[in-house]
Amino acid sequence: MSGGSRGSWSGHAGFILAAAGSAVGLGNVWRFPYSTSQNGGGAFVLVYIAAVLAVGVPIMVAEVLLGRSTQRNPVGALRALAPGGGWPLVGMLGVVAGFVILSYYGVVAGWTFDYLFMSLTGTLQSGASMQSVFESLTGSPLRQICWQAVFMLATVAVVARGVEAGIERASKVLMPLLVAFLLVLLGYALTSEKAAEGLSFFLTPRFTDLGWDGVLAALGQAFFSLSLGMGAMITYGSYLDNEYSVLRSGCLIASMDTLIAVLSGLVIFPLVFSFGLDSTVYGPGLVFVVVPEALLRMPASAMLSTLFFALLLFAALTSAISLLEVVVAFLIDEFGWSRSSAAWGAGGLIFALGIPSAMSGDFLGWADRLASEVMLPVGGLLIALFVGWKLPVERALAGYSGAGGSGGFTLWRLCVRFVAPVAVVVILLQKIGLFG
Ligand code: PFF
Repeated sequence: MSGGSRGSWSGHAGFILAAAGSAVGLGNVWRFPYSTSQNGGGAFVLVYIAAVLAVGVPIMVAEVLLGRSTQRNPVGALRALAPGGGWPLVGMLGVVAGFVILSYYGVVAGWTFDYLFMSLTGTLQSGASMQSVFESLTGSPLRQICWQAVFMLATVAVVARGVEAGIERASKVLMPLLVAFLLVLLGYALTSEKAAEGLSFFLTPRFTDLGWDGVLAALGQAFFSLSLGMGAMITYGSYLDNEYSVLRSGCLIASMDTLIAVLSGLVIFPLVFSFGLDSTVYGPGLVFVVVPEALLRMPASAMLSTLFFALLLFAALTSAISLLEVVVAFLIDEFGWSRSSAAWGAGGLIFALGIPSAMSGDFLGWADRLASEVMLPVGGLLIALFVGWKLPVERALAGYSGAGGSGGFTLWRLCVRFVAPVAVVVILLQKIGLFG
C-alpha cells in the first residue's frame, strides 16, 4: 500500500468501512427522521434520494479522487493541484467546518452516552416522562459537558492511534454491530401494532409540506449525511491507493449510507405511530423523546433502549473520528505535528468550542444549520467547480481511473461540471430569497 508515514488503509474494504462509518452517523438516525417528519414525509425522502444521486455521489467521487491522487489533507491536496492560487482556502473552509460540526456533534453524541448509561442502569425505566428526562438533560450544561468530554476522549483516543490501527479497526468493530442492532430493532418495529401507519407517514409524499426550505434541507442533509463539502472524503481518500474505481467506491458508500437512513426511518416511524405519539412536533428531540417513550412501552424495553442508544453512539463515534481526522491530517501534513499532539490538541480545542452548544439548544441549532445549510453546500460547490472546471481533464481522468479503468467518467464529469453546481446555486439563491 501507499502512504508511508502518513498511514494508509489495509485495503479497499478498510477504506469502504471507514468511509461508510464517517457517512453513517447522527445524520442518519437522529437528523434524517426528524427532517423527514418536518418536511413532508415521503416527499422529503424522494428529494433526498435525488440529491444523493445527482449531487452527492458525483461530489463524493470528486473528493476521493482529490485525496487519492495527491495523498494530502484537503488544504495540501488543492495546493498540490493548483499551486499559487486561492484554491487551498477551500480546504481551509473544510478544516473550519470540521471544528464547527464536531463542536456540537460531540454534545449530541454526549446525549446518546447519557441515554445509554440511563438504559443500562435502569434510570430510563424509572417512570419519568421522556419529555422531562430530555429537558432535564438539555437543561443541565454540566451534565452535557461531562458526557461531551467522555465522547471527545473516546474520539481522540481512536484518532491518536492512527489510520489503520485506530480508525479502520474501530470502524471494523462498530459498523457491523451498528447494522446488527438496527436489524434487531427493525424486527421489533415492523411487527408493532400500527407499523403500517408509521410506514405510510414515512413514505407517502406530501409535497405541500415540503417547500423550498424542505428542498434545501434535503440537499443539506445529503451533504451532511454523506460527509461531503468539508474534505472528510478527501482526507480518507488520501490513505487509499490507486487500485479501485472511485465511482464504485462512491456508489457503495452512498448506498450504504442511504440504506441506513431509510432503515432508521423504518424503525422509528412504526414505533412512534404504534404508541400514538406525534412525530412532527419534536424536531431534534424525536429520537431522544418519542423513540425512548415507544421503546419503554415494549417488552424487553431495557434491552431495546440499550441497543438503540448504543447504535446511535457507535454511529456518532465513527463519524466524529472522521471530523477530527480532517483537522489532524491538516496539522500533520502542513505543520509537521505528531499525530498524538494533533489529536489531543485539536480534540481539546473542539471540546471547548462545543461548550456553548451544551449551554444553549438554540446555539446548537444555529451551528448545525450554519454547517449543513451553508458551509457544506458551499464547500461542496467549490470542490465541484475545482474538479469540474479548474482541474485539467487529463488530470481528472488520471485521478479517476483505477486499475478497473475509467467507466462512467463522462457522466460523472457532466454531473460535477453542471448538475451539482447548478443544483447547489439554485437552492442557495432560493434560500436567500432571490427568487422571491
Ligand atoms: N456524516 C455524518 C453523519 O451523518 O452524522 C456527519 C459528518 C461527518 C459530516 C463527517 C461531515 C463530515 F465530514
